[in-house]
Amino acid sequence: MKRDWWKKAVVYQIYPRSFMDSNGDGIGDIGGIIEKLEYLQDLGIDVIWLSPVYRSPNVDNGYDISDYQAIMEDFGTMEEFERMLEKAHGLGIKIMMDLAVNHTSDEHPWFIESQKSGNPGNPYRDYYIWRDPKEDGGAPNNWGSSFGGSAWTYHEGRGQYYLHLFASGQPDLNWENPAVRGEVFQMMNWWCEKGVDGFRLDVISMISKVPGLPDGKMNGGLYGDGGPFYINGPRVHEYLQKMNEQVFSGYPLITVGETPGASVEDAVRYTGENAHELNMIFQFEHMEGDPDHPGKYGKWDAKEMSLPQWKRCLSKWQTGLEGKGWNSLYLSNHDRPRPVSRFGNDSPGYRACSAKMLATCLHMMKGTPYIYQGEELGMTNAYFEKLEDYRDVETLNAFEELTNKRGETPETVLGYLKRIGRDNARTPMQWDNSSNAGFTTGTPWIGVNPNFTEINARQQREDPDSVFQYYKRLIHLRHTMDVVVHGRYELLEPEDENLFVYSRTWKDEKLLVICNFTKRELPVPQQLSDRIFPDTDVVISNYLTRQDDRIRPYEATVYLIKGTGEQG
Ligand code: NOJ
Repeated sequence: MKRDWWKKAVVYQIYPRSFMDSNGDGIGDIGGIIEKLEYLQDLGIDVIWLSPVYRSPNVDNGYDISDYQAIMEDFGTMEEFERMLEKAHGLGIKIMMDLAVNHTSDEHPWFIESQKSGNPGNPYRDYYIWRDPKEDGGAPNNWGSSFGGSAWTYHEGRGQYYLHLFASGQPDLNWENPAVRGEVFQMMNWWCEKGVDGFRLDVISMISKVPGLPDGKMNGGLYGDGGPFYINGPRVHEYLQKMNEQVFSGYPLITVGETPGASVEDAVRYTGENAHELNMIFQFEHMEGDPDHPGKYGKWDAKEMSLPQWKRCLSKWQTGLEGKGWNSLYLSNHDRPRPVSRFGNDSPGYRACSAKMLATCLHMMKGTPYIYQGEELGMTNAYFEKLEDYRDVETLNAFEELTNKRGETPETVLGYLKRIGRDNARTPMQWDNSSNAGFTTGTPWIGVNPNFTEINARQQREDPDSVFQYYKRLIHLRHTMDVVVHGRYELLEPEDENLFVYSRTWKDEKLLVICNFTKRELPVPQQLSDRIFPDTDVVISNYLTRQDDRIRPYEATVYLIKGTGEQG
């Protein structure tokens, strides 16, 4: 197998809790995934990114792992996991594990031991980041946690604080300790020996902290911003090179690091061919709001970018990694609202069309595309009305902090949650129009989006013009056209406020991708229509008829211009 097989692959993310429930307890499980593997084979994806299935008390839906080598009871058993892996492989689908090793659960035996270890001889004493209180008894520094509150929690027994960049149930591992690194690498090799095909590494850009853990700048909030002291920290590349040497180099894996705060230059360091670290990263820039108008409360009230800003951002990544690294392509995952609701138009008249347009815009770029479950159906935000409908720890903590400590009204904060909260994309997968969308025969752990009667997999598999069928075609194009995989990207019409236009060039082929991000019919700019001469082929379009001089509401059309590419 070619080592860079993942350059041609399309990845599908499963968030197991919300994918398919096979035993009626209202929680998705491995048995459910096994039932739906043929569905994924039909879609045509190559790899499943499996959000965490390890044993976990579920403070953060599995991103708080208490045993890396066991399966969460809600999800099933190791035997079922093995059955799933075997069946997936039989269908030609690989499985990439999602691994959170910046932190564990506070119920992990390492942490339980570490808490007890007043005794210097205890081997787990320095597995986590413990510090003495300040003289006034306060936290060792002013860092805030990503999920609200201080990043430090005091432990009576040990008489010290421990660091947690996320929830207090997610203590940060101390990567400075070689024993920690050794344990993590050994565990990863254990999974590789089991036959898994790769790793998605949760917040891997945060594993190395600046020694001394200095206070962060106060940006008008309640806590300091520790980011500069733990994002892309001083030893992160050293740790990843070791991980590569001791784990990745032994297997033909796909590896992707989740790297909040990474710039293009950082990405080259993480993913460059001679870096010997990762295959690709998830950068965050295009998913965050307008950098020139940051929200008072971070993502909750951030302003969205304009289309020209967004195009510049994505294009910077496309050109910045050309020949130097590799991009991941995504608009969606379990931490983000649904793309059709955020970047498209989820009202019934435009939903399917704009979902296909966004998919075209993303899938025709250079990199490895990721589809988050339900995106291939154009599933929309949950738009929950009441706080009781929400389950996510980040969301619930934010509500508490913004209403109680920052004085916002519950209505305002509920408005933030509806727009950008993570539970928007965590509602159960909509399989059919039977009760609970066919997800469970029990009571679902989180509400089903009531639009499942119109938006569901069964209906879309039968409809040749559905969003699902359109994703199948996009995936097929990546598998069959070299220009989609290798073509050099160029942004056209950068200042156009309505259209996203770019080309991809490979040998003697050129693709011209034109996407209308509005609900208005617009003229095609003159310099483009000159290129769309009648004998150009349409490779794919979300409209059934061709019209070259106007671009219709949310239209996406990809033209193939032959013989005008470059030899490369
Ligand atoms: C990123 C994960 O995607 C998110 O769901 C999680 O809450 C944090 N990392 C902490 O593990």
